Amino acid sequence: MRIDIITVLPELLKSPFEASILKRAIEAGLVEVHFHNLRDYTSDNYKSIDDTQFGGGAGMVMMIEPIDKCISALKAERDYDEIIYMTPDGETLKQGIANQLSLKENIIILCGHYKGVDQRVRDHFITREISIGDYVLSGGELGAAVLCDAVIRLIPGVLGNETSALTDSFQDGLLAPPIYTKPRDYKGMKVPELLFGGNFPEIEKWREEQAYLRTKERRPDLLDE
Ligand code: ADE
Repeated sequence: MRIDIITVLPELLKSPFEASILKRAIEAGLVEVHFHNLRDYTSDNYKSIDDTQFGGGAGMVMMIEPIDKCISALKAERDYDEIIYMTPDGETLKQGIANQLSLKENIIILCGHYKGVDQRVRDHFITREISIGDYVLSGGELGAAVLCDAVIRLIPGVLGNETSALTDSFQDGLLAPPIYTKPRDYKGMKVPELLFGGNFPEIEKWREEQAYLRTKERRPDLLDE
């Protein structure tokens, strides 16, 4: 998989890809992540990427031309499955979207700033708009990092134990059940006895029940879906 990220702040975005699972995925050649600084696609001496709104109103708007130039340069090199715009009014990121995107070959992620991008970018270049939640960030970069993390860990071979992504919260529509490790008894806080019996069908049943109860208590909306 190849991910091209268009941003005015490449520096803000780089560090999540330089540690842990994302770093290993890149080193193993399972994903390529490229950063493109929008200012490299400007045509004036000031490297302007934004301007005031037509019709008046507070806040700057990202201009269509540098974005068009950058996207066109990328599309001249290869086909893209999705061109995603990170924006608080996009569809809310869910595990299902991450699953879908993890199967794609090439995607572009455009990070917005200020008031956002000229609507013509959204109408003509963007194929999907994604929000990471109902709050407004200063820019799309942190959202893009969240999206990339959620997607990249699902690419086959990225997680050491293939089953560990399958047992994540949300993967089967439920939250994950409680988990424990050594010691069995820490200052009187005990691990449920059932987990030591070696009765794996019983353990599996307990985990399913716990996942259901946790979901019912914390996220009943997931059960309605
Ligand atoms: N840019 C600003 N706020 C955002 C959000 N909640 N999700 C994605 N991109 C954003």
